[in-house]
Amino acid sequence: MRPLIAGNWKMHGSMAEAAALAGAVREGAAGLPAELLVCPTFLHVASVASLLAGSAVAVGGQDCHAAAKGAHTGDVSAPMLRDAGASHVILGHSERRTDHAETDAAVRAKAEAAAAAGLVPVVCVGETEAERLAGQAEAVVARQLAESLPDGFAGTGAPAGAAGIIAYEPVWAIGTGRTPTEADIGALHGFIRERLAARFGAAGQGMRILYGGSMKPGNAKAILALPNVDGGLVGGASLVAADFLAIARAAG
Ligand code: PGA
Repeated sequence: MRPLIAGNWKMHGSMAEAAALAGAVREGAAGLPAELLVCPTFLHVASVASLLAGSAVAVGGQDCHAAAKGAHTGDVSAPMLRDAGASHVILGHSERRTDHAETDAAVRAKAEAAAAAGLVPVVCVGETEAERLAGQAEAVVARQLAESLPDGFAGTGAPAGAAGIIAYEPVWAIGTGRTPTEADIGALHGFIRERLAARFGAAGQGMRILYGGSMKPGNAKAILALPNVDGGLVGGASLVAADFLAIARAAG
């Protein structure tokens, strides 16, 4: 499976900074051993998508509403993201689950909306530190997978037919500079693969499982070489084009 390196730009950057970052990623995107995806704020999706049109770099949103349209002040729908040039959307990121009290059921509804609009959903799962210390990491991730993924996640529900993507992001590793051991990452990714295969059959074997949480140029090679790690969801390091591209090179 060709790896995917996805940049989650979170709530960072001006119009000019987003354009400069997109331009630098575009410049370095040729000949990499990974596919690239960048996910700017809603405000920057359209401009970044037009800067990256015709390049190898895809664009995604960081969330979408479960409804296609309606009276939902401040929200953005999946068809709007698609119209603005996005092909993917991150859903259920732990910051959304925390800041906006998003439940697994809400994430599932959003993933259905994304697929119906032809967007590839990137659904995030991952345990908190307390859950890991309590030996609950696998149970938490199993519940999130069971309840956040719609039945059409394997691709049958999406007009594009593309399979959804999982991002395993231990909450305590996000933005902290701490990562699980390679053995722990490998074990959790293997566990996720088993759950996907049990639910989606052969399609589950072919779904990408990204690792996210303090991925950097210095640790990317070892993490990306682990079995069932099919790419990365990169926050902080994706804001520096050279670091993001170095991570993508480490996927080879
Ligand atoms: P980080 O963020 O790379 O800054 O830890 C990852 C994410 O939240 O997607």
